[in-house]
This record gives sequence, structure tokens and C-alpha cells, in this order.
Amino acid sequence: MADGSGFDPGKSEIADADLAPQGHRAIEWAREHSPVVDGFLRQRLTDGALEGRTIAVVVHLEAKTALLATVLADAGANVVAAGSNPHSTRDDIAAALVDRGIEVHSTRESGYPAWEKHLLAVADAEPELIIDDGAELTLRMAKYRPDAYAALAGVTEQTTTGVLRLQRLADSGNLPFAAMAANNAACKHLFDNRYGTGQSTLQAMLDLTNMLMAGKVVVIIGYGWVGRGIATYVRALGGRPMVVEVDPVKGLEAQMDGHVVAPIGDALPHADFVITATGGMRAVTTRHFGLLKDGVILANAGHHDLEVDVAALGAAADDVTEVRAGIDRYHLPSTASGTGTDRKRVDVLANGALVNIAGGLGHPIEIMDLSFAVQGVGCHELARGGYETGIHVISPELDAEIAAAKLADGGVTLDQLDDDQHDEISEFIDETP
Ligand SMILES: NC(=O)c1ccc[n+]([C@@H]2O[C@H](COP(=O)([O-])OP(=O)(O)OC[C@H]3O[C@@H](n4cnc5c(N)ncnc54)[C@H](O)[C@@H]3O)[C@@H](O)[C@H]2O)c1
Repeated sequence: MADGSGFDPGKSEIADADLAPQGHRAIEWAREHSPVVDGFLRQRLTDGALEGRTIAVVVHLEAKTALLATVLADAGANVVAAGSNPHSTRDDIAAALVDRGIEVHSTRESGYPAWEKHLLAVADAEPELIIDDGAELTLRMAKYRPDAYAALAGVTEQTTTGVLRLQRLADSGNLPFAAMAANNAACKHLFDNRYGTGQSTLQAMLDLTNMLMAGKVVVIIGYGWVGRGIATYVRALGGRPMVVEVDPVKGLEAQMDGHVVAPIGDALPHADFVITATGGMRAVTTRHFGLLKDGVILANAGHHDLEVDVAALGAAADDVTEVRAGIDRYHLPSTASGTGTDRKRVDVLANGALVNIAGGLGHPIEIMDLSFAVQGVGCHELARGGYETGIHVISPELDAEIAAAKLADGGVTLDQLDDDQHDEISEFIDETP
């Protein structure tokens, strides 16, 4: 049904509509384990604020994202969706969404040119609001669809990288709407970046390789919330984390958390696994290849597919073979290996894309229940209006409501301060205006 806004589910581009039943089952499983999105958020959206609004959802297109899209559509929104990475879409989920009346432009393994085309197709639906990941749609609308960009009512952003990108737009005077930094809400980064990415990154790496973590040296590049979570799970499984950082405070934190901290040149020669989590580019690139052990396994948990410089590895290799599903082996000749005379094998997981999403099932459902509650609440706030141009975070009260909803579903109740437990500071400060 087209409504004149550019939104039209009939224009969807997906791999195979027949996969819909499988997709519906996966979404139903996610729904059963998402009490905050399916309960708290769904209830909050019943005020009609989303009725008839066109909302773009550009997040890794899998079952949890599909649940969020469905809840928005059930609240009356016209939802148009694409994946936020060319390698992470699940074709059965895309099919199920189209079956639910959502416009989808996404196919797995479509490659970069097709992915870009799909994002612009979403832009052409003229969304008023965007739920974005890595600011992938927002940036493209700013560059290629300036009129539609200028007409946006708001954007909510999932990731650390995306919030930094929105900040760059704002700093250059090119953010003409209110944006919600979902990543900066407590119920997002404290749980998603740390526990969610920590568990799912290790889970994906071990599933892809069928290897043991105990006793392995794992070099973690970047010790933000993501690196911290990964290190926790490496250690929990008996691995030995080594941390590479550029920020002294984060480096000190890693040291006090009990990890070995070292510059990349000292750390890489020990690594059985290397995991990048910087949010930047080329954390492992040409000048590092000579430091890697034969048989090392490289994986990326940060937003960019470019943290592990796969293109440079390809250029340095004299042969690349897929040795197992999701594992490409780069054979480096002795010249590129830097030391010794033997050729060296370097295995890269999931093409260097986010390993937990492109090479695994993504974050645990309970984690995305929190992250998407934050995104949904942020989108609803923007739809209701009243926010000035610039970057905002949902209020601490809304953050607390989301946490309380999660705790309540788990049957957990908290204490409340009694009257005699408050700080008696009022005895010292006259607060009458
Ligand atoms: N895989 C996932 O599911 C997932 C989930 C959440 C966030 N992310 C992404 O993971 C990345 C990291 O997120 P975060 O919240 O930890 O960010 P963060 O900014 O808190 O931490 C990144 C850290 O990397 C360090 N760093 C940057 N470049 C470096 C380099 N070349 N060498 C060593 N250290 C370097 C920085 O000093 C910083 O401490 C972002 O791209 C984010 O979008 C991925």
C-alpha cells in the first residue's frame, strides 16, 4: 500500500519471499524473550504519536530488529527497513517483514554497491524518523538526498561510532534536527556494548572455529565498553587477554582489571586470537602483518569492516582460500610475513565484519530487548517533539523505567530509601529560592 509519502512495501527488494515462515518463527522466539520491547515499549507507543509516521529502521536485519520494526508498525508507523551492514541481513527475516507489511530493501551477501543502493531506496521512502546504526542512513541522506535529509524530524542512533559521526555532522553545522544518542543511555552501552558484545563475540568466534579458548592469548585492541566486555568473557573461558590501548585512562583501567597492557608491536607476536574493538580504522594493517604468528585468527567486533585491514591483507597475500564457512585464510609470502622464510597463514573471521553479527547470531535477545527499548523510546520522544536541534540522550527517568521494566519481568524488586536514610545536607544548605 502506497500512501503518497514514498513508503510502499510493494517496492521491497529481498532475496526470497518464500523464506517468510522461517523468519516469522525466529521473530516469535525473539518476542517471547523481549518483555521490555513487547510490553513496556509497546504500551508506551499506544498514544498515537507514531500513527502514519514513516520510520526507517536501518539496523542489522535479524529477528530482534524485526520485532522492533513490528512493534513500531503495530503502533501505526509506516516502517521501511534495510540492514546496517552488507553481510549481516537474514533473508528469512527480511521476507517475514515484507509479509508483515513492512518495506524492506536488503539481501544477505549483496556486497557494498547493492547495500548502498538499498540504503538510498530507504531514503527515497522519505522517512521522517530514522532508527540508525553507525549513522549509515543518516550520512548517506546528508550527502545524496539533501532535501529529504533537511526534512527529517529526528534520528536515534545505536552505536558509539554512529554517535561520533552525528557529533561530526553537528560540529560542521550540518545536523538540522534533534538526534537521540541511544548508545549513551545507560540501558544501552552498559549492557549491550559490554555483556552483549562480550558474550556474542566469543560465542561467534568459538562456533566459527570450533576451537578452545582456555590457555589462548587474545590480543584485544581497544578497551572501551566493548573491549572491556570481551576481555571479561575471554578470561571467564580461561583465555589470557592482552590489551592494546592509546588512551592512558583506559589503559590503566585494563591494567587494574588484571590484564596485561602492551603496545601493539609487543602484543601481536603472542596472539593466538586478535580482536579489534576500536571504532576506528586499520587497527591491524600492513605494518603489523610481519608481527603476527603463523595460524593467528583475526576477528573484528567494532563497527567498521575496516578495523582489520582485509583489503591490505588481500594485497599482501599470494593466495586466499575459504578454509571453513566464515573463515578466509590469507597466505602471506615470506616478504610480507616480515620475519623468517616461511609463508604464513592468517585466518580472518566473517570477512572482518562484526564477527558477532556477521558470523554469529548477534547479541543475546535479552540485551537487544534493552537496546531496542532505548531506541524505541527515543524515537517516540522525537515523534512527540519538543527537542531542540542537536544531540540528546533519553532522560535518566526513562532509562530507569526501562531498567525497572526489565527487573520486574525477572521478578526482581528493589529497596527504597526510608526517610531517615537521606543525606541531611538540607541542615547545612538553605535551598529556598
Ligand atoms: N559488535 C557489536 O555488536 C558492537 C556493539 C556495540 C558497539 N560496537 C562498536 O564497537 C566499537 C567500540 O565501541 P566502544 O563502545 O567500546 O567504544 P569506545 O570509544 O568506548 O572504545 C574504543 C576504545 O578504542 C581505543 N582505540 C581507538 N583506536 C585504537 C587503536 N588503533 N589502538 C588501540 N586502541 C584504540 C580508544 O582509546 C577507546 O578506548 C564501536 O565501533 C562501536 O560502534 C559494536
